[in-house]
Amino acid sequence: MTPWSTALVTGASSGIGDAFARELAATGTDLVVVARDRERLETLAKELHEAHGVHVEVLAADLSAPVSRAAVEKRLADRTRPVDLLVNNAGFGTVGRFVDLPIGREEQQVQLNVLAVLRLTSVALAGMVARGHGNVVNVASIAAFVPAPDSATYAATKAFVCSFTESLHDELAGTGVCATASVPGFTRTEFQDRAEWTEQEHVPERAWLSPEQVARDSLAAARAGRARVVPGVGYKALVGVAQVIPGTPKRWLAATVRRLAR
Ligand SMILES: NC(=O)c1ccc[n+]([C@@H]2O[C@H](COP(=O)([O-])OP(=O)(O)OC[C@H]3O[C@@H](n4cnc5c(N)ncnc54)[C@H](OP(=O)(O)O)[C@@H]3O)[C@@H](O)[C@H]2O)c1
Repeated sequence: MTPWSTALVTGASSGIGDAFARELAATGTDLVVVARDRERLETLAKELHEAHGVHVEVLAADLSAPVSRAAVEKRLADRTRPVDLLVNNAGFGTVGRFVDLPIGREEQQVQLNVLAVLRLTSVALAGMVARGHGNVVNVASIAAFVPAPDSATYAATKAFVCSFTESLHDELAGTGVCATASVPGFTRTEFQDRAEWTEQEHVPERAWLSPEQVARDSLAAARAGRARVVPGVGYKALVGVAQVIPGTPKRWLAATVRRLAR
């Protein structure tokens, strides 16, 4: 039985967001699916409606562009059609030395991975807290917990998402509303190709998570009212270790792993 009537999922046109949408539809939650690629969203909406009878609204928007993002904020603010689960999942990364990367793309990353999460969460929480019910799931990354040479901006954006969400979780105590940070490790999606990361074949097969597992574990954690979920036993251990190793050895370890992966 789903606790949610309507969920808004960003980045639903592929990967983890697509898996969130499928998981929610299968348990009878109506959806608002958001991404830039309208055609992919419409195909998904049709498929989920036919398979599960849920209502799926398509909202094509570029969440890194404030004007386009405003339409999504407006939808979340519509109290006549309340959204009781927001999944801030859309995001991308870049790979390379910061000094060599075009600054416009880095800025876009901050717009999408940070500012869209901040703004959509703000508008969604206003309605949820007033109604005394709702969940926000923000998709971070294990990159939030380890220094990430060649992914400096990405890791920083995900550190923001984690810290922001866990702070909100505590602020929201007693309101009936819960914020959960989802912290996936390597997950098989379009993410690596979009980041033009050419070394993904060096990641051992057993290190890869499926988007379905990430979505399932994240929704279970939201239902249980948890502040953070790290899908997969290996990644739970990694995050645990990363939090106790002091800064200098942690940076040395991260740099060594990075060198070996090249
Ligand atoms: N895959 C991994 O290894 C991994 C690990 C840890 C965390 N994550 C996080 O998981 C989340 C989902 O990524 P994924 O792995 O599922 O990657 P993905 O397959 O590339 O999916 C990214 C989604 O975000 C959407 N998106 C990208 N830019 C957008 C924009 N400007 N406005 C609106 N939507 C946009 C994409 O759709 P359109 O192109 O149609 O806009 C797509 O639906 C991200 O936040 C990522 O940082 C991924």
